[in-house]
Amino acid sequence: MYLFKKVNDLQQHLNKIRKNGGEVGFVPTMGALHQGHLSLIQQSVEANDCTVCSIFVNPTQFNDNADLEKYPRTVAKDMAMLTSAGNNVLFLPDVSEVYPPGLNTELKLDFGDLANVMEGYFRPGHFDGMAQVVKRLLDIVQPHRLYMGQKDFQQLAIVRNMLTQLEMPIDLVMCAIIREEDGLAMSSRNVRLDSSLREKALLLSQTLQEGRLKMPSKTPAEIQDWALKELTIPSFKPEYFEIVNAITLQPVKKFSDAEYVVACTAVWVGEIRLIDNLIYKEE
Ligand code: PAJ
Repeated sequence: MYLFKKVNDLQQHLNKIRKNGGEVGFVPTMGALHQGHLSLIQQSVEANDCTVCSIFVNPTQFNDNADLEKYPRTVAKDMAMLTSAGNNVLFLPDVSEVYPPGLNTELKLDFGDLANVMEGYFRPGHFDGMAQVVKRLLDIVQPHRLYMGQKDFQQLAIVRNMLTQLEMPIDLVMCAIIREEDGLAMSSRNVRLDSSLREKALLLSQTLQEGRLKMPSKTPAEIQDWALKELTIPSFKPEYFEIVNAITLQPVKKFSDAEYVVACTAVWVGEIRLIDNLIYKEE
């Protein structure tokens, strides 16, 4: 696996591949890799001549400095995992490579209501920082395909909207959520859960699943109320449990209001904020 820390070195390498007709797949990450990330790498490896993974803990998308500082950093282990997954290129830039002084990387896009709900409501500014770094990384890598996880459903919807607004000819591939055996969605933050919280954390996926079983007899609002009560146990603080149109991300009043419906939740489990989602209805 090639390792590049500088934009110029990475671009020289990728230019050669593209010149020979090679297609490039890109998997942006913040490191502390797990099987969820690797499933994105594997899908890219299968479909492209060259797969680039970036590891960059992007300061502009954290609204809490302590969260940024505590974000797990495990580069040596990440590199071993990437190598065994068949990844071709790791891009590991410093902040000064991604945001060089003098380069205006600010994005002035309006994501409208997509960014006002759920994560956008509870983490103000988060999606502006996320979109800023994804745009900058896409400009650097110029991939044919971009691989992102359903785990961050709203993030994916916003990146999709950004690609459309900026007319960037990149295929966005949504990759399914990879879960631990008990159902907990894999996340770099899970390592920060102590054993008792780790056990309780499976309540998120359980509640999403049980809520889906109630669809024939309950309205979205009733399921939402039930779920928020389920998730209110000692050490837990649910922020939201929303049942939304998967395209607009706006709440649905009736399940028949949309063809594609997803339930999304965010819960503080002790000091750790976890998110998860489940498709309730698909076209
Ligand atoms: P990060 O949290 O490292 O996630 C990188 C990618 O892995 C995202 O597309 C995310 O949705 C996907 N992913 C995470 N957990 C997953 C799981 N359990 N199953 C499947 N895919 C999973 O998301 C980010 O980084 C950042 O916001 C980033 C896009 C890199 C911009 O900084």
